[in-house]
Amino acid sequence: MHVVITGGAGFIGRRLCLELLRRGQLTSGAGLPARIEHITLFDHLPPARPVKDPRVRYLAGDIGDPGSVRDVIAAGTDSVFHLAAVVSAEAEANFDLGMRVNLDGTRNVLEACRALPRPPRLVFTSSIATYGGKLPDPVTDETLQTPLTSYGAQKAAAEFLVGDYSRKGFLDGRALRLPTITVRPGKPNRAASTWVSSIMREPLQGEDAVCPVTPETRMACLSPRRCVAALIRAHELPAEALGISRSILLPGLSVSAREMADAVHRHAGNRRLGRIIWEPDPAIQRIVDGWPKASRSARAAALGFEGDASIDEIVRGFIEDELEGQAQ
Ligand SMILES: NC(=O)c1ccc[n+]([C@@H]2O[C@H](COP(=O)([O-])OP(=O)(O)OC[C@H]3O[C@@H](n4cnc5c(N)ncnc54)[C@H](O)[C@@H]3O)[C@@H](O)[C@H]2O)c1
Repeated sequence: MHVVITGGAGFIGRRLCLELLRRGQLTSGAGLPARIEHITLFDHLPPARPVKDPRVRYLAGDIGDPGSVRDVIAAGTDSVFHLAAVVSAEAEANFDLGMRVNLDGTRNVLEACRALPRPPRLVFTSSIATYGGKLPDPVTDETLQTPLTSYGAQKAAAEFLVGDYSRKGFLDGRALRLPTITVRPGKPNRAASTWVSSIMREPLQGEDAVCPVTPETRMACLSPRRCVAALIRAHELPAEALGISRSILLPGLSVSAREMADAVHRHAGNRRLGRIIWEPDPAIQRIVDGWPKASRSARAAALGFEGDASIDEIVRGFIEDELEGQAQ
């Protein structure tokens, strides 16, 4: 099989690539397990930590450019994981960029899939930022999508397109609504949720972190391990299992900033911990307050998607995978 991961130089794309290499196979469109021969990681940035494996190649290009996307999703592509995106705060600050990458870029991916001789399987990463305003706690399968950011609106629109291209038989798509994936390695990014990782990652590495929201602020969280397992699970499901909706809400554990800080202390071991400096920023707090505090989906559970049991599981996973190098 030939698998394409757009946004493949990013956080989740890299982790997904490593897990696909470890498994070595995926279910093909015919529903049978097939060996993964090639993984193409498409991104406009070079990877900070390249994956070194003869099955992997990097291709540089802009998802907003239809020609580049057609070149990467070329004949022979069996599966596409479409992850390339401009994240929330950046899409909010730069409307045109968000539209070009998150909406037009997705359309480019869908059209490239449609042009293939065989409709590929496609897994798209949407977000619980497609919900907003006065929300039930937790958000469930019954909650209406009412995005209150441009990023959320672009992701919601893209979900509907994935559904319609699937209904037309142009591809076999699945869209996952991801909660905040934490703990992210590396440096803070431009997501309004970036503090969710900073306040655990930096202290565990002896550095101070600024938290731009109050300690009581709660977020719906999922670990990278569970996220990657969900992306692969979404790919493996037969189309018949999905029914009329191609979108699936993933489970997000409700964790406050204070509970994240406490979990870091429980798992620090002999590490010298950095401090958290609480400095609420009204603009970030406003965006984050409009997002779900937790998500629960009976449909996802019935389809075999699993969330994390506790913030301790999430922190332990980060220490093992990133600080002790188990994820490479
Ligand atoms: N990480 C989270 O908490 C979270 C939550 C909800 C949804 N998501 C979605 O999951 C996906 C992956 O998230 P991530 O955390 O790995 O993000 P990331 O920023 O680490 O990765 C996204 C990648 O897309 C690439 N990209 C951006 N613009 C591009 C362009 N014009 N052309 C080609 N590539 C481009 C970036 O260079 C980056 O490597 C995204 O679609 C994101 O919206 C993530």
